[in-house]
Parts: sequence; structure tokens; C-alpha cells
Amino acid sequence: MTPLIIAIDGPAAAGKGTLAKRLAARFGLPHLDTGLLYRATGRRVLDAHGDPADPATAEAAARALRPEDLARADLRGPEADAAAASVASIPAVRAALLDFQRDFGRARGAVLDGRDIGTIVFPDAPAKLFVTASAEARGLRRWRELAGRGLAADLAEVTAQVRQRDAQDAARAAAPLRQAADALLLDTTELDADATEARALALLRERRGIVPPG
Ligand code: C5P
Repeated sequence: MTPLIIAIDGPAAAGKGTLAKRLAARFGLPHLDTGLLYRATGRRVLDAHGDPADPATAEAAARALRPEDLARADLRGPEADAAAASVASIPAVRAALLDFQRDFGRARGAVLDGRDIGTIVFPDAPAKLFVTASAEARGLRRWRELAGRGLAADLAEVTAQVRQRDAQDAARAAAPLRQAADALLLDTTELDADATEARALALLRERRGIVPPG
């Protein structure tokens, strides 16, 4: 039997990561937060005082990534967000990170969350979810996340940054953020993490006949 791939895509702070972790636990699958690959690449460039928009510098950083880079504590926050979105728009960076993502999923199946999992990384995945929410709800979530980490920020500014990053991710030529034709849409504007998980499980069961083992 082909191992199960669950592809979760959507804009920033829509609840993809939390949902991906929960589905991974339910289905007994490994989870890969693919945003970490772009964040760690951007961070490497920043460490070397390079320009995240420079293709050669960013590609070299992507090719030099080590597993421990993904566990760094400084991969979140406005600076890392912007650097990630910058390197992510470079085709050579995406190409350098593609095999890692595919190998990760092929071995035992996986839940992967990102922007292009259902469109580019695993276009044949049987289970694709496109998770979204209003920009206001996503801005508030990101603001709360920052506050929880002791980082004071202005809500309007955080919401504007979230919108700006989505616009950049959706407008780029290389693997833009978009819903795959066969992805199931899940709007989490009014849903908490429990309700989001319940809705995702219901969609997978009712629309794809996919249920967790056991
Ligand atoms: O998901 P996260 O917010 O951590 O992703 C950070 C950035 O990495 C995104 O804004 C996007 O530019 C990029 N990304 C991507 N493709 C993915 C995952 C993330 O382009 N599959």
C-alpha cells in the first residue's frame, strides 16, 4: 500500500501547523513543517549578513541546511518571516529543498504543511486540505502568538505583515500559494483548534473516505 500523504496548504497563521501536528498524531504519521526549511534558509543568509533576495546566496544556504538548523530557536518573528518569504520566491531555493520534502514523505507517509504541498511537492496526495481564515483572524492569532512569547507588537502592524507576506507568497512565479483543484477548503475563522481538527477529520472521512487507523 502507498503510504498516506496528507498535504496541508494555506496562508500564514491560518492554523495549518496545529492541525498538521494533530492529524499526524491521529494517523500515526510523521509531520514536517515545511516553512521551517525556508525559515532556516533565510536565517542562514541573515547570519552571514547576506541578502535573502540574492539567488546565489540563498541557494547556497538552502543546500547547506543541516537537520539541526530546523531546531533553532530564532526561526520565528518578523525578521525571520520576511527572510523566509524572500528566499522562498527563488526557484533554485525551492528546487534545492524539494527532494528533502519528497523523501521525508515517501518513506512512511507524512503530514506536510506549507504553501505548495498539494500543488508541487505531492500533487498526487489523496488528502489535501487548504486551510484559511480571514486576514483579521490570522493577524490576531499571530499577534497572540508573539505576545505569548513576550514580544509586544502592534495588532494592526502584525495584521499588515501577515497580509503582505500572503500577497508575496501568492504573487510569486515559483510555486505560488494557491488552493490545489482537488484540495478541500477549510475556513478556520470561527474555529478553535479542536473544532478545526474535527472539521478536517469529517472532510477527509466524508469527501475522501480517509479515516485514522484503529
Ligand atoms: O509556514 P511558514 O509561515 O512558517 O512559512 C514561512 C514562509 O516560507 C512562507 O511565508 C513562504 O514564503 C515560505 N514557504 C513556502 N513554501 C512552503 C512553506 C513555506 O514558500 N511549502
